[in-house]
Amino acid sequence: MKNFYITTAIDYANGSPHLGHAYEKVLTDVVARFRRLKGESVHFLTGLDEHGQKVQQSARKAGVEPLKFCDEQAEKFASMCRLLNISNDDYIRTSQERHKKVVRALLQKLFDKGEIYKSEYKGFYSARQEQFLQDKDRNEDGSWPEIFGEVSEITESNYFFKIGKYQEWLVDYIKTHDNFIFPRFRAKQVLEFLKEPLNDLCISRPKERLEWGIPLPFDENYVTYVWFDALVNYISAVGFGAADFESYWPADFHVIGKDILVPPHAVYWPIMLKALDIEPPKSLLVHGWWLSSGEKMSKSLGNIVNPLDLVSQFGADAFRYFLMREMNVGQDSDFSADQFLARYTSDLGNDLGNLVSRGLNMSHRYCGGFVKAQSVNEEPETSLKDAWSAVRGEILPLYEGMQFHIALDKIFAFIRAINKYAETRAPWKLAKSADPADKARLETSLAFMCEGLRLAASALAPIMPTISEKILSLLAQPKLDTFGDALNWSDRLCGAKLGAQEILFPRPQQPKA
Ligand code: ME8
Ligand code: MG
Repeated sequence: MKNFYITTAIDYANGSPHLGHAYEKVLTDVVARFRRLKGESVHFLTGLDEHGQKVQQSARKAGVEPLKFCDEQAEKFASMCRLLNISNDDYIRTSQERHKKVVRALLQKLFDKGEIYKSEYKGFYSARQEQFLQDKDRNEDGSWPEIFGEVSEITESNYFFKIGKYQEWLVDYIKTHDNFIFPRFRAKQVLEFLKEPLNDLCISRPKERLEWGIPLPFDENYVTYVWFDALVNYISAVGFGAADFESYWPADFHVIGKDILVPPHAVYWPIMLKALDIEPPKSLLVHGWWLSSGEKMSKSLGNIVNPLDLVSQFGADAFRYFLMREMNVGQDSDFSADQFLARYTSDLGNDLGNLVSRGLNMSHRYCGGFVKAQSVNEEPETSLKDAWSAVRGEILPLYEGMQFHIALDKIFAFIRAINKYAETRAPWKLAKSADPADKARLETSLAFMCEGLRLAASALAPIMPTISEKILSLLAQPKLDTFGDALNWSDRLCGAKLGAQEILFPRPQQPKA
């Protein structure tokens, strides 16, 4: 059976984990969890991009071997994944033999096919960006932009991959495969780039300049260019060349940021695969950037310098909720800790948290902690059920279409509708009535609150897995493995013994003055 195979970019070992890395992993994790809940067999890969000049330099500075340096970095990135409750099935590091041997095999194959040739190259080189620059990269006054660091003119013999000859094929491929780049507007940017003739790609670096890389199998004096090396992770990790490779490949999604679409993922990668007679991935899911407007991220939180600190204070699920709620996948979004706090307090604390504590509290007080039958079906019960029906119909297509912010908006509107229902029914008033009809209304109202909560918690499972499981367990329900019929309004809670009331989203502590 073909797995739903989804990957993130592999992070540069040189830097430290930051919000952008965290977001990409959460986004990918949400898609992976959603697919598992739909009953698909999922393979979720993430990992670390270890080779290259910057890592070599950082290791030298730290006075350690590059591999040792990367071991420490790998631990930092992997621990961020654990912190965020990322459900990756594998973690690839480009220093692993399983990866290096595939890179070598592919290079040899391209070399044997005549797709790689040696040539002299003279040009301006940026050590910081590890790339030769072109005149179009210059500032208007002829100088080089800051991001390139020190730029010097050098001449080198190098190996080149004939990507130019695939240009027409690629343009045609992108034009005829609407799903290849998501969101679709990003494809324009790629086609724009492909209007200029594509230069053959320099895929080698002389060893005297760079040692920390994968040696070319046909010339040990060179190592492989980092992008050629890094992109291959997507196939080396699922055993390219092994019998079950086809149960993974082609990947369903490569999740990447907009900065690495052109040229690496939309140009180099499909051409590398084409030249090797391997199918391209089905889709590139291109997300935008998290920006931060001010250097001081929060007035009210004072101590938050790194957004990831919010996770230890507020929990992974609150953080995941915020990232998915605030970002329209594909666009950019501004990160603000104040906005995080606002969402935490209102959506999570006042809406969801409040529903949990009220529902449980009143069920214990008025129904002995049991869910009773939904025996009454009048207004406002019908409205609440209708409200769910509307959400129920939209939720899976919204998830499927990566519209997580809208899905969450709808789920939370439903949560508010349950709270409003509780206000309307006012179980605390019904409890004082001697009328047997009111007793039925009381029991029904609490059963409705619990069922509504169960549905909301089930729908939230891909985004807030721990909270979802926690709420379901308070409702005496098992953790959700697949959606199945879990999103249908039901009376399955009837007779359930509820857990004790809990505060799921405690009020944030005020920062010390
Ligand atoms: O590019 N907001 O690694 P990387 C959202 N090693 N996403 C962001 C971001 C931000 N502010 N900053 C970075 C690399 N990202 C290569 C990838 S893949 C074969 C090799 C995203 O550590 C960025 O767009 O610089 C990329 O998808 C990912 O984080 C890793 O970035
Ligand atoms: Mg980057």
